Amino acid sequence: MGMTLGGIAAIGAGASLYAMKKSWDPLPSVISAGFTTVDLSPMDSGELRTVEWRGKPVYILKKSADMSKCADRDVQVGNDDYSVGVQICTHLGCIPSYIPANQVFKCACHGGEFDACGKNTFGPPPSPMEIPPFKIDGNKLVLGEEGPEYLRLVGKA
Ligand code: FES
Repeated sequence: MGMTLGGIAAIGAGASLYAMKKSWDPLPSVISAGFTTVDLSPMDSGELRTVEWRGKPVYILKKSADMSKCADRDVQVGNDDYSVGVQICTHLGCIPSYIPANQVFKCACHGGEFDACGKNTFGPPPSPMEIPPFKIDGNKLVLGEEGPEYLRLVGKA
């Protein structure tokens, strides 16, 4: 009798652990939403695109010849340089707007500014905009995967 009860309890515990693990695992839709692929080939020089990656805005700015280059922030694809960053202000999380005429990101909340490389240049933001994990696949940028270009920029390579 005792062994039967013990066996039932063990089966119940196993079923509970399985159910708990299932609830912790990300849903398939979340896993597939973890990557965002952007084709860079149709972008014009000086063009900025903002895409959504894991619920966050990520900007991609194709540098024009008159824009400052940042070896520690830009990624080169073919002959072009791109600035990529999570477009969220590092002060209190507002979304800075890009102003092409000035080549700056301006945060409307407290006046913070970031340059075309995503570096904080004015106001309260304490640090540059975050570089999201990415990899370069031909002419495509794949957000959500740590490629060698990303690892170099963040000092992990
Ligand atoms: S949230 Fe951007 S400057 Fe304060």
